[in-house]
Amino acid sequence: MRPSFFHHLHPPTIPAAQARWRHTLSAGGTAVFLMLILGVTGVLEMFYYIPNPEEAALSVQTITYHVPFGGFIRNLHYWSAQLLLIVSAIHLLRVVFTAAYASPRRFNYLLGLGLFILAIMLDFTGYILRWDVDICWPLTTGTNLLKTIPFIGNFFFRIAVGGGEACETALLRLYTWHIFGLTIPLVIIGIWHAFRVRRDGGIAVPPPALRSDKARLPRNELVRREVLMLFIVGILLILLSTFVPAPIAPAMIGKPSPDAETRAPWFFLWVQQMLKWGDPFIFGVLIPFGILVILALIPYIFPKPADSDIGTWFPKSNRLAQIVVSIIALIVIMLTLMTFIP
Ligand code: HEM
Repeated sequence: MRPSFFHHLHPPTIPAAQARWRHTLSAGGTAVFLMLILGVTGVLEMFYYIPNPEEAALSVQTITYHVPFGGFIRNLHYWSAQLLLIVSAIHLLRVVFTAAYASPRRFNYLLGLGLFILAIMLDFTGYILRWDVDICWPLTTGTNLLKTIPFIGNFFFRIAVGGGEACETALLRLYTWHIFGLTIPLVIIGIWHAFRVRRDGGIAVPPPALRSDKARLPRNELVRREVLMLFIVGILLILLSTFVPAPIAPAMIGKPSPDAETRAPWFFLWVQQMLKWGDPFIFGVLIPFGILVILALIPYIFPKPADSDIGTWFPKSNRLAQIVVSIIALIVIMLTLMTFIP
């Protein structure tokens, strides 16, 4: 087959071990695919979305109920964003559980973590853009957390929402963060991350001398597998977007409604649960930030995995990192579930 543009993005052959589904779970590639869908559907939504507090929620209703295929495009955007967070978390776990973060991939691990943080912030700002009655509580609680940071908190608050009451004034600023301030870094770091995967020698597998599986795959086969996976994810997305609509609530006009939802979006429920326990700075800022610092330090201060273990599932030499990340994941899941207990 004559190589196309997509073939040129790959080396002519790669070790077969790097392309096994059971090794990568296709999570990184799926995340790229979801980002592309988010970009296209987001631009389509911009044709109708009006970033002004009086009209924003009504414009979302127009997109959902009046624009041809508008509801479907919005659902695609919403579901791609939710799946991106889940797939990125799975990708992070697989990178840790296969010791793929070890040198020379330490820096790329940090780039990946940066992408994950940006994806969470994009999901949060996108959720706020609905500007319906349900967004006021999470917006106020989330941005007030910034103010609790000693010395620089008020500065961060002003950068994020521009001062004043968040539920009255923040929309245009958060819209600009969503469309430019977060998306542009996501694109740049995303391209950098993909470039570093190639630069660091492709997906982590043990060095050739220590590898039992010596087979190599041509890039045609790799592209074929990628397309198959994207096809499956594409069908799942189409089904979700056809049958499960993205949330929508009445417009927030004037003062926030007293019967509005007082729940954070699902990916911040674990923080909401901790906030019930006391000091907002400790539970809402310090602990989440501490978790990020621990994740970022894994390649730098945890014991270095043995060369023969890099790219193999659950190796002994990185047990500590596996245990720490599993505990963090379990705590986040349990705290999230606790918010559903009445
Ligand atoms: C959020 C968006 C992300 C995207 C779009 C993305 C994309 C990718 C892709 C396409 C690959 C190669 C294929 C694969 O391993 O599945 C990859 C590998 C890698 N990613 Fe990510 N990634 C993201 C997040 C992360 C996160 C959160 C981390 C860790 C903190 C991370 C760390 C890495 C590392 C270390 C590799 C090399 C893995 C290896 O060699 O086995 N990435 N990423």
